[in-house]
Amino acid sequence: MKNLILIGCMGCGKTTVGAILAERLGCTCVDTDHEIEVREGRTIPDIFRDDGEPGFRRIEQDTLKALLPAEKLVLATGGGIILDPENVRILRENGIVLYLKRSPESLFEHLEGVTGLPLLDGTEGEDRLARIRTLLQEREALYASAAHQVICCDGKESEEIAEDIYCAISKNS
Ligand code: S3P
Repeated sequence: MKNLILIGCMGCGKTTVGAILAERLGCTCVDTDHEIEVREGRTIPDIFRDDGEPGFRRIEQDTLKALLPAEKLVLATGGGIILDPENVRILRENGIVLYLKRSPESLFEHLEGVTGLPLLDGTEGEDRLARIRTLLQEREALYASAAHQVICCDGKESEEIAEDIYCAISKNS
């Protein structure tokens, strides 16, 4: 089995969908953010606070490089992984890249009450929605071009999204 690599904005469901898929496929699900926290012994907000976003991005890339010789993996990536073209190259060379696409409103809904996301720090309500809109505007084209396949997730539960992916990859293999 090829690695399955999930990309998309914070709140699109990469980790939850990844875990369901991995269970169904009998393989392991790895989350880059979790891996970063284990390697560093620090939380993501701590890394952003101490090293800034550039420091976090360096650690993110090192972690990706350490992870991706692996096989039979479902990899749930951090929302900003596609910002560096080198990461995109690594992702596309090492598996099927799936973009879990959601509208800003749907991402906002999913992120209700979620903390520990430095890029949304200090925002709530309309401010948070506006921040999500901006992030998505900046990144949408990057997600779309990094992906081998786009999975539309609005209005769907995680199980249904995992099922859509399962069908898509079964058809193409
Ligand atoms: C980020 C997304 C987060 C995490 C970090 C930065 C981003 O991951 O990597 O806070 O730039 O969108 P999730 O997408 O898993 O929340």
